[in-house]
Amino acid sequence: MNLVPMSEILNEANKKGYAVGGFNINNLEFLQGIIEAAEEVKAPLILQTSEGAMKYIGRYYVTGMVEAATRDIEIPVALHLDHGGSFEKAMECIRLGYSSVMFDGSHYSFEKNIELTKKVVEAAHSVGVSVEAELGQLGGTEDDITVEEEDATFTKPEEAVEFVDRTGVDALAVAIGTAHGVYEGDPELDFERLSEINEKTEVPLVLHGASGVTDNDVRKAVTLGINKVNVNTNFQQAFSAKVRELMDNDPELYDPRKYCGPGREAIKEKVKEKIDVLGSGNKAVN
Ligand code: 13P
Repeated sequence: MNLVPMSEILNEANKKGYAVGGFNINNLEFLQGIIEAAEEVKAPLILQTSEGAMKYIGRYYVTGMVEAATRDIEIPVALHLDHGGSFEKAMECIRLGYSSVMFDGSHYSFEKNIELTKKVVEAAHSVGVSVEAELGQLGGTEDDITVEEEDATFTKPEEAVEFVDRTGVDALAVAIGTAHGVYEGDPELDFERLSEINEKTEVPLVLHGASGVTDNDVRKAVTLGINKVNVNTNFQQAFSAKVRELMDNDPELYDPRKYCGPGREAIKEKVKEKIDVLGSGNKAVN
């Protein structure tokens, strides 16, 4: 696959003050919509699969599709495991050819999270693969994982410094008030906390659960140190709304190309909107 390590993409974004999309793929149409949009607006791209999406698509289909999608591209692309739950899963993805993995030990104690993340970092770095980790815990639902609102915890700036120093991670996902999936009410982001974490750490910071966050808040988060913004739900909603509209308008519709194709276009438009908010358009030109 024609991929680059995620750290190459994020270090550049960190230096120049913009954010790159960590965009989740769920099937072929997502991959095509996302990569076509990024190519057209010349934006560096991080394609990512959750463990659930890998299971749904099939791991060799993921790498086969990404290999086809990246064959003739001009933009830098990383393939990243989103929310890897174990050392074994991270190693599986590295062997499959992913150029980046997330190890999410955020539900463990601080010390256990450090110990497990460090082990993944050592193995991944020895073969040039980047690692993202998470400190603090987001609420909401992603795939089969639900974190209740009362269990969600914000990232502590002092802990972030120690965590980055001791693990050597390339990117850190912070919990500052976002949640995965569909929100109940408007999220209130703790920008002061984000700013403090950014001042104290050198690594690119990652915002998960960005679908329910307003464009203005995402822009503000980017000015305060966020260099990777994860989006999944908004693309799922765009695809499904288009398919639903077409099905509702024509109950006789049966050819999947006639609804999946427009669904793919809807994802593409949404991806372009997101890239515009993140400021990563035209950043893939030498
Ligand atoms: P959303 O589903 O809220 O867009 O979050 C995606 C995400 O954070 C993936 O890790």
